[in-house]
Amino acid sequence: MRLLAIIIAAGLACGSATLAVAQHRHGHDASAPVAPDTRQFVKFPKPLIEHTLANMRDHLQTLQEIQSHLALGHTDVAAKLAETRLGMSSLGLHGSAEVAKYMPQGMQEAGTAMHRAASRFAITTQEAGVTGDLKPVFAGLAEITAQCVGCHAGYRLK
Ligand code: HEC
Repeated sequence: MRLLAIIIAAGLACGSATLAVAQHRHGHDASAPVAPDTRQFVKFPKPLIEHTLANMRDHLQTLQEIQSHLALGHTDVAAKLAETRLGMSSLGLHGSAEVAKYMPQGMQEAGTAMHRAASRFAITTQEAGVTGDLKPVFAGLAEITAQCVGCHAGYRLK
């Protein structure tokens, strides 16, 4: 239930929710007591843990490449990266069907929401290449990132 609330909050006001989480963490220095870890532990077979974490690092790298290409005005490249590496087209790439069966439902939903947000972002970004209006592109990027944040807040593998 808590995760659902986080995801809904992230979806409704993703920018501010994300910022609030980041600021909260920054407020603590290293010596201060850490908030209890309330994330749900999800048991994956060992090889799938390593596989999933490698995918995760690719997700982060993709976000970085998308941002670099947006800064260069390469909206077409950014759109293609989002669709093929994070979007619905990436499901085969990440072996999602194999991994999904070990995930609780809320985690599966967060994953699906991320793939959908990335595919929507790809379309928005292609349109921005025509209109020149980048505002919806940044909003779309925040929607993708909100799904990363929401799932990370709810689940852990280790
Ligand atoms: C469906 C849930 C889910 C989504 C969506 C998700 N992640 Fe993760 N991610 C995880 C889990 C679970 C871990 C492992 C955390 C742990 O065990 O401490 C993780 C770990 C990571 C790591 C650490 C990898 C390592 O080598 O330890 C990175 C980086 C990461 N995610 C990036 C992202 C980015 C960027 C996105 C969004 C584009 C994203 N993730 C979306 C669940 C998710």
